[in-house]
Amino acid sequence: MDLEQYLRALPKTELHLHIEGTLEPELMFALAARNRVALPWRSVEETRAAYAFDDLQSFLDLYYAGAAALLHEQDFFDLAMAYFVRAHADGVVHAELFFDPQTHTARGVAFATVLDGLERACREAHARYGISSRLILCFLRHLSEEDGFATLEQALPHLARIHGVGLDSSERGHPPSKFVRLFARCRELGLHCVAHAGEEGPPAYIVEALDLLKVERIDHGVRAAEDPALLERLAREQVPLTVCPLSNVKLRVFPALQQHNLKILLDAGLKVTINSDDPAYFGGYVLENYRQTAEALQLSRAELRRLARNSLEAAFVGDAERAPWL
Ligand code: ADE
Ligand code: ZN
Repeated sequence: MDLEQYLRALPKTELHLHIEGTLEPELMFALAARNRVALPWRSVEETRAAYAFDDLQSFLDLYYAGAAALLHEQDFFDLAMAYFVRAHADGVVHAELFFDPQTHTARGVAFATVLDGLERACREAHARYGISSRLILCFLRHLSEEDGFATLEQALPHLARIHGVGLDSSERGHPPSKFVRLFARCRELGLHCVAHAGEEGPPAYIVEALDLLKVERIDHGVRAAEDPALLERLAREQVPLTVCPLSNVKLRVFPALQQHNLKILLDAGLKVTINSDDPAYFGGYVLENYRQTAEALQLSRAELRRLARNSLEAAFVGDAERAPWL
């Protein structure tokens, strides 16, 4: 069996996926026309050509600009459904979708509009493909903790449909310690907690996310490799890392996939998973992340099975839901 067929057949989950980051330029333009929204680019081709990033912030500036095309419940449904079609084709059995409500509520889109559209797609994906899913609300860390609390307030009537919270956007200068009270409140509410840490930010941000926010998984976490004590801790505690190899290359965390430290982390005994982050912007969905990483780092089939199995074990599901995948 060739590598791609082998990887497609492996049951896997996707645990680090920003649904706004799956907005392909074709859909962005279709929605912008439908909603009479102006975009900063003249064509699909010009948009794709703009996807050359120097760092996380240069990507985020475009990503927030593109999200302006999303206004109505149907738009969020169409966005998420397009993702599920691709995830199903890639052999994803379960997906945990990040969404950034502040990106939309700041433009006057109601919180419920975003959630209703995404949730309807989650139900449709389950009915059509048998894919299970969860929604994880991400707070934008470049905004204040107070703004995060206001967003949580808007989420309160909908908590039955929201499984957890995360922390994303510009990492440097916005440490996890900025959100201690917000995450404490989220834990009291019974929400699962994750946070981006150690993507561009230092290993100390990973330690803060674990000790201050008490997160259950670290999103990215690749800079943990700079701190031997932290590496040892992450291995001992089996904290899942949701690593996104193609993203890391596009945002210049590593100069090339051949220099990515995923295998080093795996060899150190960490619970590493492979994910796509913002696949419309970074050149590949989850299967492509597995395939290119496998080739660049010469991963064995046993290592690839380990990565996929880690993703099943790290999902926020109960044992009964997980059992059929194992
Ligand atoms: N929002 C979307 N993708 C992100 C990433 N890779 N890091 C931080 N925030 C993000
Ligand atoms: Zn991310």
